[in-house]
This record gives sequence, C-alpha cells and structure tokens, in this order.
Amino acid sequence: MLVLGVESSCDETGIALYDTEHGLLAHALYSQVEMHAEYGGVVPELASRDHIRRVLPLTEITLKDANKTLQDIDAIAYTQGPGLSGALLVGTSFAESLAFSLQIPTIHVHHLEGHLLAPLLEENPPDFPFVALLVSGGHSQLMRVDGVGEYELLGDTLDDAAGEAFDKTAKLLGLGYPGGPALAKLAQSGKPHFKLPRPLLNSSDLNFSFSGLKTSVLTLVNQHKPLDNETKADIAYEFQEAVTEVLTTKCMKALRETGLDNLIVSGGVGANAKLREKLNAATKRKLCVVSYPRLEFCTDNGAMIAFAGAMRLKAMQSGGEKNYSFSVKPRWNLSELKAP
Ligand code: KG4
Ligand code: ZN
Repeated sequence: MLVLGVESSCDETGIALYDTEHGLLAHALYSQVEMHAEYGGVVPELASRDHIRRVLPLTEITLKDANKTLQDIDAIAYTQGPGLSGALLVGTSFAESLAFSLQIPTIHVHHLEGHLLAPLLEENPPDFPFVALLVSGGHSQLMRVDGVGEYELLGDTLDDAAGEAFDKTAKLLGLGYPGGPALAKLAQSGKPHFKLPRPLLNSSDLNFSFSGLKTSVLTLVNQHKPLDNETKADIAYEFQEAVTEVLTTKCMKALRETGLDNLIVSGGVGANAKLREKLNAATKRKLCVVSYPRLEFCTDNGAMIAFAGAMRLKAMQSGGEKNYSFSVKPRWNLSELKAP
C-alpha cells in the first residue's frame, strides 16, 4: 500500500510517500526557518500562509521523484496535532480534500507518534518493546513503547522541554533562531571553565527540569557582561554538558528500571552530536543498543508521518477513515492514543 504523508504542524512543510512493501520512496521538505529567524521565533500566521504556498508543489515533487501519480496513492496520513492550529489546518484540509477527490481513506497521525516511530525507518530497526527518549522543542519525555499506540509515559519535563532550553539559552547568548544547532556549534569551541547544575540528576523518578538551568545561565551571562566569544563558547559548552548528562543518566535509569535493552531517541535534540556521543558510550557499557533517526528525520518531516500512518493502516481492521470531515487537535496528549 502506498501512503502519502503530510506534515504541517509548525514551521516545516513535509511531504513523503511510503510504500508498505518497498519502504520510503520519496520525501520533500520546506523549512520556514529563515522567514521566522527575523522575528526570533515562529510567527503562527506567517507559518500557516507559507504552508499553503508549499504543500502542492512539494506533493508534485514527491510524486515525480517516486515516479508515481495521484491515482497510485492508497491512503493519506496527516498530522492532526498537536501543533499550531492554523498550520495544522493547512495540511489537514489539503489531505482530506485530496483524499475525498480520490475516494481513499485518511489516517490522523499524532505528531509525536511520528517522531517516536521515525528511528524504525532506518535499517535494522529495533523490535518492540523499547524505551524511547523524545526530545523536541515542546517535549522531553521518556516512554516505554510496546507497539504502535502502546505508549507508557515513564518521565516528563516539569517545566521547559530540552529543545526549548537550548533555544532560550541560545537567545541569552545572542545566537539566532533556532538556537539548538547554533548553540551546539558554538559549544564545539568551548572549554570546561564553568559549572552549571544538573537538575534532577539523582532524583528517584525519571522526570526532567530545565528552566532552572536557563536561570543559572542568565546569572553567568550577567556576571560576565560584556560577553566575549570565548566566554560565550564556554557557557554553551557547559550548558550542553549539563543537558546531555541529565538526559543520558535518565535514559540509562529507564532502561534499568524497565529491564529493556533497546533505546530509541527522536525529536530535534536527538540530532545533537554530544548527546549521541554520551548515549553511545553509556549504552555500550551496559550492552544495550541505541537507535536514532537519520539527522534530517530528527526534526519535523513528512516521512515520519507517512511511516506512522502506514504502520497504523497495516494494523487497522477498518482501513482508515473515509468521512472527509476534519478538525485539528492543537493540544493532544500522546497517552490518549490507542493501538490501531
Ligand atoms: O522535533 P523538532 O523539529 O520540533 C518539535 O516538534 O518541537 O525539534 C526542534 C527543536 C528546537 O528546539 C531545536 O533548537 C532543537 O530541536 N534542535 C537541537 C539540535 N537540532 C535541533 N538542539 C540541540 N542540538 C541540535 N543539534
Ligand atoms: Zn516535531
């Protein structure tokens, strides 16, 4: 079965074609990052308008790259939430109307389920069950995953998400938007001069807290004003050390407590090289296996939505929805999902 995937929940328009027999055939992405950089963050109204401009050309490109036509598509999977409501509405209305015109079913995908299953798009994917670390701009969660739709929350952030902490700290250091990649780049030239706290490192649970770290960075910034480039790099280095150490320690604790030996990491912060270095070393020591999506599928993309939709479609008795009415779910808890 051939599934078209549509992602438009935030500032990236992603389209992909996933074949349940032959895997990912093609995908195309347009990132609005440059447009929003001017404002220091995503402007929802501009995001929606830009999704409208991109969604049709990207679909045409994807079909052409896969050497397929609209008539070859068996179902359309799209991100129904969570995300920006206007942005979600673009992908949703496009997907439902195209499906109506082709009289094929739609599958309503949860954006985080897309991230969560993205590592399974790679070669030699891990088997269920596994522990998943989901670290994006809006989420920092540890989950036990027993199958598609079978997610047990093990730990969550009590305040800022990991990506949010990267973005806010980058702003304090005067770096552009999005801050995560810029901060990671700057940290490469930094040295261990400062010491920042490791929030909840030794707590008995699997929760995270990153907002205090940002406050500690603010104190350092105020103490060393005006910041020279070396000090900035040293702060970036220590901030990245603190976040990645906490994330790694909690992942290992989750593996220990669940008795599982497979870890998958997804979401934008999963692209962080320092995090990967620490997780690779820690899992190797404990004879566990860690899997990641390729770098381009850590951040938002259509491939993960097409894939999650295809996994659900394969498992569904009903073969997807064919009522073509639509609504979006800007707030949608992953724990509300059920197995197909
Ligand atoms: O998963 P994602 O694309 O969007 C959400 O669904 O939230 O994640 C975006 C987040 C941003 O906060 C960005 O700064 C962060 O991921 N990010 C990184 C890196 N690349 C992206 N953070 C740290 N290091 C990176 N290399
Ligand atoms: Zn995302």
